[in-house]
Amino acid sequence: MREDFLPFSPPFIGEEEISAVVDSLQSLWITTGPKTQRFEEEFAAYVGAPGALALSSCTAALHIALVSAGIGPGDEVITTPMTFTATVAVIEHVGATPVLVDIEPDTLNINPSLVAAAITGKTKALIAVHYGGHPCDLDYLQSICHEHHILLIEDAAHSLPAKYKGRMIGSGNNPAAFSFYATKNLTTAEGGMLTGDPQMIEKAAVYSLHGMNRDAWKRNSQAGSWRYDIVTPGFKYNMTDIQAAMGLEQIKKMVRILQRRQEIARIYQQLLSPLEAFDLPVEREDCQSAWHLFPIRIRPGVLKISRDEFIEQMRERNIGTSVHFIPVHTFTYYREKYSFVDNDFPVAFNESERLVSLPLHPRLSQNDIEDVVAAISDILDHFKC
Ligand SMILES: Cc1ncc(COP(=O)(O)O)c(C=O)c1O
Repeated sequence: MREDFLPFSPPFIGEEEISAVVDSLQSLWITTGPKTQRFEEEFAAYVGAPGALALSSCTAALHIALVSAGIGPGDEVITTPMTFTATVAVIEHVGATPVLVDIEPDTLNINPSLVAAAITGKTKALIAVHYGGHPCDLDYLQSICHEHHILLIEDAAHSLPAKYKGRMIGSGNNPAAFSFYATKNLTTAEGGMLTGDPQMIEKAAVYSLHGMNRDAWKRNSQAGSWRYDIVTPGFKYNMTDIQAAMGLEQIKKMVRILQRRQEIARIYQQLLSPLEAFDLPVEREDCQSAWHLFPIRIRPGVLKISRDEFIEQMRERNIGTSVHFIPVHTFTYYREKYSFVDNDFPVAFNESERLVSLPLHPRLSQNDIEDVVAAISDILDHFKC
């Protein structure tokens, strides 16, 4: 058995990021500034985005996308229950009503064929989450949104870098929100990026910094002026130059990071499929997954122990795992407010009950991967039905 604990998703930080952060700390400018601006430009160039705004989190990016679109009380926003709570919480924050739609059994993304039936006269937006880094069927979703005059917002927290039919996620005119949280493919410890149409980005920039006119961040520098105006009561969602310094180094490594993630996913597929105990993540023909996650699903009738006990057995064998996600409709707040029951979204509920995310990050060595699979094989030996 492995002697030291294998963490689920530690950051992939090198000397380059450390020097870049030190450089920022030693400069006279540590908050939003030139490095943030350069990170926005380089990120936009990397994904082919028409515009980009660096923010404090993906949650902030999603919130501001809704606010900038004028979505508020009385409106409905469609999304998936198979997501992190943030995707749905931002709909609540603007006073709109989340309308959940069940997921596809293979990708675990929102099921496009169920979306049309959820649209009402109040529907203003659809937030599509690219679960685990695998793109949703964007053409299908975009055509429904177009037909019903609904804004398509992408929760791209997991999907850097991912492609749908050869197009990079984040390259469209519609808002897409990326996360640079500590476990994400690119990290700035905390952070996010909103991409999309430059006019929307301009508006979002104002909302992201107190509602000050754009470039107010320069007000304490020689280039700026102390005078500013407030055009709307905004938020405090800006990214700092310390975070952007990390981001600028991380983005240079994205190709290497993706290649290693793809390689690890391939090795897991090779080693786990012969066990015939799990349903493994898919990658559709016309998609390139960012392989943010490697979620396996324990096949019914395979184990004498529950999924939760399986996770505990992995921990006892020094392997960190996680679950993505506990479906949002099962949380107390949403159950009580919307009277949801587990089976309102049966695919999301049943699949989540058998989900386990395995470690997947560029730090994993071949030995680490083999340790994960050895732990799984050992559990199967002990607990197979
Ligand atoms: C699908 C999804 N959306 C949104 C978020 C929120 O990201 P952040 O922590 O950057 O706000 C997360 C975070 O894990 C996520 O998994």
